[in-house]
Amino acid sequence: MKKLFFISVALLALSIQSCKKDYLYVQKFVPPPPDLSFATNIYPLMTSYNCANCHSPGDNFPDLSTSQNAYSDITTGNPQLINSNPASSRFYIAVTSAYNGISGQMPTNAPYLTSNEQELVLAWISQGAKP
Ligand code: HEC
Repeated sequence: MKKLFFISVALLALSIQSCKKDYLYVQKFVPPPPDLSFATNIYPLMTSYNCANCHSPGDNFPDLSTSQNAYSDITTGNPQLINSNPASSRFYIAVTSAYNGISGQMPTNAPYLTSNEQELVLAWISQGAKP
């Protein structure tokens, strides 16, 4: 929690700083709420970005076709989540520009998750990846 607060403050400071310097549009950082839930806060992102187009049963892992399948594939079976170091979780990395898989950042073409949405995924993992 302390770490999360520090990251939030750092990101906020960073975005204010860059606004001052060059007047570029920087997305306002929205601190993620506590008690994030996969079904309520995370799976809706998978729906709006049509992840299931390529992540359905028998297709690419993880299966993101339903909230339950997605939760089970992401939290078990494959080391998609690393509780001791949330930022190195494969599920989180996959939706950031840091992903170095064959297809590149998920979804495979823009638009990508916004920085606030990426932070939400990270915060959800940091909070214990609740269903
Ligand atoms: C156009 C097809 C396509 C779409 C859309 C897509 N993916 Fe993928 N995804 C793939 C393929 C193919 C792989 C296998 C690895 C690779 O090619 O990079 C993959 C791999 C992954 C992995 C595994 C990464 C790992 O290191 O284990 C995750 C997690 C993932 N995708 C999440 C998502 C999420 C979340 C979305 C939606 C925001 C999404 N994908 C949208 C095709 C897609």
